[in-house]
Amino acid sequence: MGGMVPSVLIVDDEKHTREGLQQALQEHYDVSVASNADEAFNLMDAQEFEVIVTDLRMPGKSGLKVIDKALALANRPAVIMMTAYGSIDSAVEAMKRGAVDFLTKPVQIERLEILIQRALKTKTLEVEVKQLHERLDEKFNVGAIVGHSPRLAEVIERVKLVAPSKATILIEGETGTGKELIAQALHQASPRARAAFVPVHCAALPATLLESELFGHERGAFTGAIERREGRFELADGGTVFLDEIGEIGPEIQVKLLRFLETRSFERIGGTKTLNVDVRLVAATNRNLEQMVKEGKFREDLYFRLNVVRITTPPLRDRTEDIPVLLEHFIKVYSKENNYEPVTVEPGAMRHLQAYPWPGNIRELRNFAENAVVLRRGGKLSEFDLEPKFRGEVAPPPAMVTPTPANPFSVEDNEKRLLREALMKARGNRTRAATLLGISRRTLHRKIAQWPELDVMDRG
Ligand SMILES: Nc1ncnc2c1ncn2[C@@H]1O[C@H](COP(=O)(O)OP(=O)(O)OP(=O)(O)O)[C@@H](O)[C@H]1O
Ligand SMILES: [Mg+2]
Repeated sequence: MGGMVPSVLIVDDEKHTREGLQQALQEHYDVSVASNADEAFNLMDAQEFEVIVTDLRMPGKSGLKVIDKALALANRPAVIMMTAYGSIDSAVEAMKRGAVDFLTKPVQIERLEILIQRALKTKTLEVEVKQLHERLDEKFNVGAIVGHSPRLAEVIERVKLVAPSKATILIEGETGTGKELIAQALHQASPRARAAFVPVHCAALPATLLESELFGHERGAFTGAIERREGRFELADGGTVFLDEIGEIGPEIQVKLLRFLETRSFERIGGTKTLNVDVRLVAATNRNLEQMVKEGKFREDLYFRLNVVRITTPPLRDRTEDIPVLLEHFIKVYSKENNYEPVTVEPGAMRHLQAYPWPGNIRELRNFAENAVVLRRGGKLSEFDLEPKFRGEVAPPPAMVTPTPANPFSVEDNEKRLLREALMKARGNRTRAATLLGISRRTLHRKIAQWPELDVMDRG
């Protein structure tokens, strides 16, 4: 944005106003002057200005034309309009046309300086917001999904294929396999990308709160509903709602959700008005919903509604060829973040890392990479630097606490086994167990709450 000193253009047909302002402002700004709109246009074509202060009524073109011209320029200078005392109508007109502010003549210098400062501040913020948006786009577009295994390529192909439609999507996969990343990529690749992506973590909220979170409530709908509140579906109008951990929602919400999916309409809690929204639904789960349907824990009709298009995120151990690229990617990210030289992973270490089952999947790998970067600060990572668990040297836990899973393919049993093992290794310390698994402490707590039989081991 220009040089160190912000540049200001003053446009006024009265010589003494023009020169008076120039003199007053040139201490802080790089000031140019023009005596009419055409002269101003020439200067605006030749040079970038951050702020333009223009008179409204001038011989030839009016100050409104200066606004139009400014808005058409790539760097969009902010325009402050000067109007004669009492001509509020023209000030309003100028604001409507896109001026950021106005002043009445005779101009008070202090006031003008405040307006210029404010305009400059707003411009900086606008640039920052734009950069943030660009960075978000980068982060969440399909290109941000790292890996080149055929299994992952299939997932990406599917994302691209279904993104343009409004079809409901169900994403299934183990913890840390990138379900949320895929959901975001779906949104970014869809025509809804400019509207909101609204995630709702279903497991994090008790049933009553979840209902009001999703559908909103009217004032007085229940104790504590002091104000009327819009739900996530309303907030996401035109965009995407991501229902994470859909397998955790209770029977009542299942009914409401089913109705919403059938009609795209709902009422706020305690409300009578039926609201319609245009929302695309993406749901994710690390449980086997089909199994839950069989067990009567999840409504079959809702399952069918959700399962229009299914995307399965494969676990890392089923696409070990992605491990080196993912590692390289995360090592690069964390080295940059910490200002360290990237660590080199030696082939011996890589062999072990590719053989390791990564129960926490990509999240665990990401944490491993961060650790390696921070602990090694550049240099090489050899197989001897690896913790024993990566070298397959960990003694199996005592047989007594390792149950033989009733169904060796059940995700739930597998998860329970991993949790139990991690808790054992961590001697019951949950923070350590969570680190071992590459999941958050909160997730671990939730899982333990879900399977009380694991709770006996808690000692930390
Ligand atoms: N293919 C990938 N490329 C780059 N980063 C990835 C990839 N897959 C996952 N990640 C990253 O790994 C982390 C875990 O992914 P994400 O949160 O999407 O997993 P999840 O399946 O939603 O996990 P959970 O079931 O525990 O909620 C995130 O930081 C995500 O950005
Ligand atoms: Mg997730």
